Amino acid sequence: MNGIKVVGFGHYVPETTIKNDDFKEIIDTSDEWISSRTGIKERRISITETTTDLAYKAALMALLDSKLTGSDIDLVITATMSPDSYTPSISSKLLSKLGIEKAMAFDISAACSGFVYALNIASAILGQNNLKRAIVVGAECLSELLDYTDRSTCVLFGDGAGAVVVEKTNENGYFYSMSKTDTENILYANAIRANDMLLNNETDNYHLKMDGKKVYKFALDAVSDAIDNVLKMSGLKDSDIDLFIPHQANERIIMSVCKHLNLDFNKFYLNLERYGNTSSASIPIALSEAYHNNTLRKGQTVLLVGFGAGLTWASTILKV
Ligand code: UT7
Repeated sequence: MNGIKVVGFGHYVPETTIKNDDFKEIIDTSDEWISSRTGIKERRISITETTTDLAYKAALMALLDSKLTGSDIDLVITATMSPDSYTPSISSKLLSKLGIEKAMAFDISAACSGFVYALNIASAILGQNNLKRAIVVGAECLSELLDYTDRSTCVLFGDGAGAVVVEKTNENGYFYSMSKTDTENILYANAIRANDMLLNNETDNYHLKMDGKKVYKFALDAVSDAIDNVLKMSGLKDSDIDLFIPHQANERIIMSVCKHLNLDFNKFYLNLERYGNTSSASIPIALSEAYHNNTLRKGQTVLLVGFGAGLTWASTILKV
């Protein structure tokens, strides 16, 4: 079966580390509360780098890893919910930085499912024309959206980027995917409007807001649905999957899903302890990290599963 395979992996996180206990200086919280409810111990925060800077560093690492050059790339898709400009897109800015000439390039917004959505779109585009290779990126500076007086959200998120170079293949490759959205406004961050500033509107509309309990409940159903669906579609069994890479939001969500679907928790790659929830960047950071530390090896089969604002959920099975 024709499909796409990953030929380069990259990720980048900013240097500044904020540990759980560091929040005690600004809000009423504790390491015990944050780590027992989520599994998160620390996260990276960008002080000066933009989302495009993070995306560039991850994409460059993936390109170098693939041993290809910018002229080999036909398509760039970046998933983000925290772009540093409304326009042009991050992908457009990446072209000149990576030495890519006149490729198809655009960004997508599907929150924490964004990278899986972007990969699914890249696979569809590569499958339908003479384009051969794509760079797919997930990049976020969520620290820019956070309200550091809201303890129920600010401790959860972090900044970072991950990227892959994918190539169309007809040699023993495969790619199965599903992407779904259901409108529900329980996790959102509104765009900043110049008019609000002109009119001196004091409303705090642009910080990220979440009904954590409702999102938690949604996540359990969404992750189970996404894994179940893509396995059925592929005809594979969970024992055929070498590594599961879920969106890194909460360790308890993954444990509950494993119990519900009778999956082996040890096959799930988790790094949320070190980076927190980096939305669309969390899956490609984990994918690249797993590859570069030899947890995931060439030829193995990986299942990616994302869930988040929209509400969105998506999954993919591919051979790396
Ligand atoms: O990437 C998008 C996907 N997002 C997610 O997957 C998030 C899903 N939701 C969750 O992971 C969990 O709902 C949270 C970790 C966000 C919250 O856990 P929870 O067990 O649902 O806590 P809660 O919101 O019900 O809050 C329980 C208590 C409240 O205090 P009271 O009202 O019981 O006195 C909160 O005010 O914990 C309090 N609380 C905190 N306490 C210390 C909320 N945030 C904090 C905090 N430190 N940072």
